[in-house]
Amino acid sequence: MRIGILGAGNIGKTLVQRLSAAGHDVKVANSRGPETISPDVLAKGGRAVKAEEAVVDVVITSTPFMSIPKMRPLLASLPDDVTIIDTSNYYPHRGDKIDEIDNGQAESAWVAEHIGRPIAKTWNTIITASFDANDKPAGTPGRIALPVSADRKRDLDVAMALVEESGFDAIDAGKLEESWRQHPGAPCYCTDLNRDELPAALAATDKSRLAKRREIMIAAMDERFGMSINGEVEPAVRIMRALFL
Ligand SMILES: NC(=O)c1ccc[n+]([C@@H]2O[C@H](COP(=O)([O-])OP(=O)(O)OC[C@H]3O[C@@H](n4cnc5c(N)ncnc54)[C@H](OP(=O)(O)O)[C@@H]3O)[C@@H](O)[C@H]2O)c1
Repeated sequence: MRIGILGAGNIGKTLVQRLSAAGHDVKVANSRGPETISPDVLAKGGRAVKAEEAVVDVVITSTPFMSIPKMRPLLASLPDDVTIIDTSNYYPHRGDKIDEIDNGQAESAWVAEHIGRPIAKTWNTIITASFDANDKPAGTPGRIALPVSADRKRDLDVAMALVEESGFDAIDAGKLEESWRQHPGAPCYCTDLNRDELPAALAATDKSRLAKRREIMIAAMDERFGMSINGEVEPAVRIMRALFL
């Protein structure tokens, strides 16, 4: 598959490496130009390109949330059969507040509206350190499962297949309007659940508590880790589980 990844940061880098290693033709772009993409991003294959060259059969957006509307000129006019998969999370403390989301619109529904395209949403519920360290072959007992939301069957199928290839079980989490079940603050958020545990966690999500829990999580993570968890996956997941499960 030809895959373009917009964003070469924590999540984008691992996606380039995993999906290249899985045999896909991967291009990656950031906002500053291909020459600024670190060679280790391309250690397993893939090519650094300009953003307009990265919009191919499947496009993965893995940028800060508020960068996504800026990509509309690139994404809105893509052919109908291009699947766009978004990894982003809305953290209002990092930048602009979005009233529609604060008032209950699912983040991914807002993204789809603002880029003028349907999307799938996944890879947003795993901390980068766990994403880097905890991929496993399909069939491994206890393999971490990730929720995938999408409105179109084709987008869901493509995103679920790529999640599996990236080293995780993929679970159908339903339509975008229900994707608040995978928001920061939800029981499935960064708690590294497996396929037996994830469906019940999605079903148990209480939408009215998400924003408050997200703020508590930010405070708890800041107090424990400061700017970076530096690979301390287990303590980070323990904190998330204590807060959300
Ligand atoms: N970190 C995590 O643990 C984690 C886990 C799950 C999901 N997420 C979510 O996934 C998204 C990416 O997270 P991250 O931690 O990987 O972010 P990051 O390390 O800050 O990287 C962001 C990347 O996006 C690029 N970018 C920004 N604007 C762009 C544009 N208009 N076009 C193309 N590329 C652009 C940046 O390139 P420049 O540097 O050139 O601007 C950078 O390469 C975020 O929304 C985050 O909430 C993060």
